[in-house]
Amino acid sequence: MKKILVTGGAGYIGSHTCVELLNVGKELVVIDNFSNSKPEVIDNIKKITGKDFKFYEIDYLDREKLEKVFEENEVESVINFAGFKAVGESVAKPVEYYINNVSGALVLLETMKKYGIKKFVFSSSATVYGDPEVVPITEDSEVGGTTNPYGTSKLMIEQILQDLYKSDNSWDIVILRYFNPVGAHSSGLIGENPQGIPNNLMPYIAQVASGKLKELSVFGNDYNTKDGTGVRDYIHVVDLAIGHVKAIEKIYREGKGLYIYNLGTGKGYSVLDMLKAFEKANNIEVPYKIAPRRPGDIATCFADPRKAEKELEFRTQKSLEDMCRDTWNFQKNLM
Ligand code: UD1
Repeated sequence: MKKILVTGGAGYIGSHTCVELLNVGKELVVIDNFSNSKPEVIDNIKKITGKDFKFYEIDYLDREKLEKVFEENEVESVINFAGFKAVGESVAKPVEYYINNVSGALVLLETMKKYGIKKFVFSSSATVYGDPEVVPITEDSEVGGTTNPYGTSKLMIEQILQDLYKSDNSWDIVILRYFNPVGAHSSGLIGENPQGIPNNLMPYIAQVASGKLKELSVFGNDYNTKDGTGVRDYIHVVDLAIGHVKAIEKIYREGKGLYIYNLGTGKGYSVLDMLKAFEKANNIEVPYKIAPRRPGDIATCFADPRKAEKELEFRTQKSLEDMCRDTWNFQKNLM
């Protein structure tokens, strides 16, 4: 059977997507350079699914080694998760971010072209919408106004994909704009394990709950939202992973086109909603204080999920309680 190449398959979203693809019987070949992940993740994907796949520890910028993967495997499509993703770090290291994210995607696309493979799924982000004028955000909303190199790199790659498709419409491309991925696999074997102090809300809450960090700083309580704290569309990472399965199935079923989908639940929750839901789901206290706004943050961001519902038959299944319980279940295994 022909294979799906997954780049960054040991990462947070990549690993959960590998599990869901294997669960529906897809054959995979996976690459990762472990720059922000660990080899155990590959073993855990195999443990969860009871399935095997070929793995290569390589950097996707390494053209020669990447070509070897295409030589040795019958690759039919590519899902690209490889890339750097820390917003703050991207401001400090723009060159590294643009090289890794943009040049990496270009090397990958060039290699795909060389081997005549034209089915591509790309991990983008709701960050490409900048500060949205209206919510819920539809895929037709204006993009731009990104405030950091990480976000801009996503926007650039989206533009490159648009240009590529214009030049050759025999490509099948799906761009998935993720809202806020949280949670972990219910086995507790894979999840989000950021290095250093987490930037994102849920990993931070989990580390406060575990006693690793003292208290959560709630960044601003004077936004124009129901309780003054920032509102986001949190999506369970297993739902998000299933979104990729739906995207690849659409490509195989219909093909020929460039499609863009929001992957979110369509529901917005505030920082305090998340904190309280976490406390309730896990029966644990999470101390917090109100702190100043974080530069670059926006008040409200949530998806209009209807296009993915209609065209991908994608509907999120997991509840806020699942997100909180699974985050904690994974965190406890790290302690
Ligand atoms: C951030 C990135 C976004 C990226 C996404 C990946 C920014 C500006 N945006 O989104 O580009 O795609 O992560 O998941 O960094 N919060 C606190 N205290 C904390 C951490 C967060 O109050 O210690 C609040 C934030 O102010 C925000 C909400 O929690 O209102 C969610 O924050 P976060 O998890 O960092 O995600 P985003 O900022 O939405």
